Amino acid sequence: MSKISGKVNHLAIIMDGNGRWAEARNLERTAGHRAGADNVLKIMQAAKEFDIKYLTLYAFSTENWKRPAAEVGALMKLLQEFIFKQLPFMQKENVRLNAIGRLNDLPEAARLSLLGAMKATANNTGGVLTLALNYGGRSEIVDAAKKLIAAVKDGRIAPEEIDETTFQQFLYAPELPDPDLVIRTSGELRISNFLLWEMAYSELYISNVMWPDFDCNELKKALEAYSSRNRRFGGIEKK
Ligand code: FPP
Repeated sequence: MSKISGKVNHLAIIMDGNGRWAEARNLERTAGHRAGADNVLKIMQAAKEFDIKYLTLYAFSTENWKRPAAEVGALMKLLQEFIFKQLPFMQKENVRLNAIGRLNDLPEAARLSLLGAMKATANNTGGVLTLALNYGGRSEIVDAAKKLIAAVKDGRIAPEEIDETTFQQFLYAPELPDPDLVIRTSGELRISNFLLWEMAYSELYISNVMWPDFDCNELKKALEAYSSRNRRFGGIEKK
């Protein structure tokens, strides 16, 4: 596989369309999620080949609890299976597993397998896979504000010291760089409460392909589109 872009250091993906993928095949929605989870394995490998150091995936949002209990249960079970299957790959490729979100509210079994894999890979330095689980961008900002207020109250931070850099330190994963590119599959034109703070200057790429079919070739197209963009971060174009 050719390396077309060394520039995407952090790729974040809104993996959408599992349900529609399944419905189009007269399958249960959970079959779509299973196909989606299998696709995560493929995209992780492809990301590695494209030298993408940080990959962040929106796996379960704070709003996804509104889905039928059976679908939520199936997603949590898939998460456990995914971690079990993925751990050897992450160890072999030296990838660290990370998670963002209100992890304490995840079902016990899913939470324990997640924390176990995070601990087992904690010293890996070859890349970072971050799963957004029970994640919401607004909740993240609220949680950061609460932690910041606690730090002010006990005198660790003076109110006049608060700026964007200080605030960012209280987000779920302050060590992660902001995403360069955010991909959303299935053609929807929404951010859906994902990485609201972090994606302030990210490039967006919408693919019409449903997540289970978003393969290495589709990823390559997104990276090619990214490499032709001109990122100005609010400044003016450099000649
Ligand atoms: C959106 O599809 C996808 C999700 C809500 C969950 C994403 C989960 C996976 C890809 C599988 C599990 C992942 C891991 C890492 C174990 P949708 O159901 O909203 O699709 P629809 O919009 O077509 O209904």
